[in-house]
Amino acid sequence: MSLSVSRRLTAVTAIAVAGLFASTAPAALAAPPGAAAAAPAAVAAAPTPPDIPLANVKAHLSQFQSIATANGGNRAHGRAGYKASIDYVKGKLDAAGFTTTLQTFTSSGATGYNLIADWPGGDPNSVLMSGSHLDSVTAGPGINDNGSGSAAVLETALAVSRAQLQPTKHLRFGWWGAEELGLVGSQYYVNSLPAAEKSKISGYLNFDMIGSPNPGYFVYDDDPTIEQTFKTYFAGLNIPTEIETEGDGRSDHAPFKNAGVPVGGLFSGADYTKTAAQAQKWGGTSGKAFDACYHASCDTAANINDTALDRNSDAIAYAVWTLGAAVPVPPGPSFENTADVNIPDSPGAAVTSPITVSGVSGNAPATTKVDVNIVHTYRGDLVIDLIAPDGTAYRLKNSSSDSGANVVASYTVNASSEVANGVWKLQVKDVAAQDTGYINSWKITF
Ligand code: TRP
Ligand code: ZN
Ligand code: CA
Repeated sequence: MSLSVSRRLTAVTAIAVAGLFASTAPAALAAPPGAAAAAPAAVAAAPTPPDIPLANVKAHLSQFQSIATANGGNRAHGRAGYKASIDYVKGKLDAAGFTTTLQTFTSSGATGYNLIADWPGGDPNSVLMSGSHLDSVTAGPGINDNGSGSAAVLETALAVSRAQLQPTKHLRFGWWGAEELGLVGSQYYVNSLPAAEKSKISGYLNFDMIGSPNPGYFVYDDDPTIEQTFKTYFAGLNIPTEIETEGDGRSDHAPFKNAGVPVGGLFSGADYTKTAAQAQKWGGTSGKAFDACYHASCDTAANINDTALDRNSDAIAYAVWTLGAAVPVPPGPSFENTADVNIPDSPGAAVTSPITVSGVSGNAPATTKVDVNIVHTYRGDLVIDLIAPDGTAYRLKNSSSDSGANVVASYTVNASSEVANGVWKLQVKDVAAQDTGYINSWKITF
């Protein structure tokens, strides 16, 4: 009988291709038959998303307020307050190691600006982009709309720099001009991208009004993965969310969405009225607008709910870390027995094929994988179990009237209550007479 034990770390290849951990990526290992498997190689875990300091986000808002105050009370397209806002954000990003690009365009006879900031590294063919519009309306300083999104995206970018994050994806951040004139800046940016560059954007996250004074917690209902990422974050805080319905396409995600880019985002409400049910679950005042100062002169630094701004800022970081920096979890080591074991015809006894597992720390995972290869002339005859080292049986397959030949199948077993090291067995019993066969091979992957 020959027992072959091998370990495979197939996902490591994918990580190396993505340009990450190349120096620590082990080559595929193949131990000689009968050799004990080595301990699993260390694989970097996905880094923990940071808590974005509310004080830092608010400090940016206070700068935006000062800029508006010093420039005629607004930060609108074509006005000095807009350019000063762009210069402030660009200065912070340049100092933090971003590669920034100022993109100019013309709208309503005035020069507009978009700011694009790229964090060096990550897969250039898979870009995660986060953005917000930086302009206000002319009526006021635009602190909730949209200093809030702009400050939170800025602070998330600065947190990327503080962490010196080495994400799987390439991270890009954008601040848009002239949104209030009809999504002009973001549309200009999307139009400026060659098709090949557009297709590299794996996701665009938009943040427009995320600190509304009478807040709701709305998640854009667009790309399901992005949506679920935000929902997961808020579920962790035990905060119910609703789907954003205050007007799809009313912010800078729309040009990206129209270009085929998966989009998502957060929103705390504008001029719609908070219902009694919403006040019940989120607090605040029912019968009153989420932001009574929407597009008004009173959208000042006082027009912010700190709790909403804090939670939404943390949610941005969570999404950027999760969607952009996630490290694929490679499969653990696998062990295989390729020795043939004859399966006597019914009413013969059950037979087993053993695999000795060593070098795996702790318990088996909830996703323990069992690959079975049995040659048989009538597979419905067979009852198959995985037997853990402590004797616990996990049923992989019952008998049936399936008259097909052979069992070539992969089963996932929740073996998380079992210690991984020890002797695992594949047990096969033939429960109906006439047809016969043998265990060809089987493999267990942790
Ligand atoms: N700046 C946006 C606007 O004036 C604000 C807004 C309203 C919004 N409804 C929205 C942003 C829904 C995102 C989603 O239209
Ligand atoms: Zn806005
Ligand atoms: Ca049989």
